[in-house]
Amino acid sequence: MLLEISDLSAGYGTKTVISGVSLTLEPGQILALLGHNGAGKTTTLKAVMGLLPARSGTIRFDGNAIGGMSVAGRVGAGIRLLPEGRGIFPDLSVADNIDVVAAQNVSGASPMFRPADIYRLFPVLDERRTTRAGSMSGGQQQMLALGLAILGTPRCLLLDEPSIGLAPNLVERLFQQFHEICKSHGVGAVLVEQNVAAALKIADRVVIMNNGAIVFDGLPEDARQTNVWDYF
Ligand SMILES: Nc1ncnc2c1ncn2[C@@H]1O[C@H](COP(=O)(O)OP(=O)(O)OP(=O)(O)O)[C@@H](O)[C@H]1O
Ligand SMILES: [Mg+2]
Repeated sequence: MLLEISDLSAGYGTKTVISGVSLTLEPGQILALLGHNGAGKTTTLKAVMGLLPARSGTIRFDGNAIGGMSVAGRVGAGIRLLPEGRGIFPDLSVADNIDVVAAQNVSGASPMFRPADIYRLFPVLDERRTTRAGSMSGGQQQMLALGLAILGTPRCLLLDEPSIGLAPNLVERLFQQFHEICKSHGVGAVLVEQNVAAALKIADRVVIMNNGAIVFDGLPEDARQTNVWDYF
């Protein structure tokens, strides 16, 4: 098991916003984490990344509890968050974005993805190496964000609404590429999405949250047949 969350609760200030959250993720598996606004999806990803302390419960990565591990330690272990909004440096060029992150992440004998691999996966970034990242289109910025998230050796990607603001055909392309990366490299992923149809196309499993708790965990085809869609 790559990631195992058991009975997790987390929140802000005096407010607990997720509780009793349990889920598992295997290498190469894509888990779509769905639910309406405020359900607790981002909070769950933040707790896994270590940006928010778990109030109770355990998070295991590769079988080891990581509750005491720093964010940097988790990144080093291969957990990567593509945050809500765009995880890029808008004022740096495309190449500088990639080089800055590569300097932190591309270590060890044979990283899975070096800068050259990112340019190969996303040729548009190659063409725009010297372009200021923040001046690119939304889709191009999102490709850069995904490229930055996978630099080095990612093992577990946490993607928070990567399709937001993208044209449907671009979402399809980006998700196909993302699917290919996960399957060919055994990278597990938790994909938080409002674009339910696009997420279900590439998901192996679906978890639906409502009000800080999980209300469905199963196969995409079973999710389609239940009444969980009432939660949207
Ligand atoms: N920084 C914060 N401080 C206080 N409360 C917060 C904070 N961030 C989120 N919350 C609250 O926690 C709850 C869950 O929010 P969260 O961002 O996890 O939802 P979400 O499922 O990601 O929603 P969305 O689809 O809108 O991104 C909400 O009620 C929200 O108001
Ligand atoms: Mg969110």
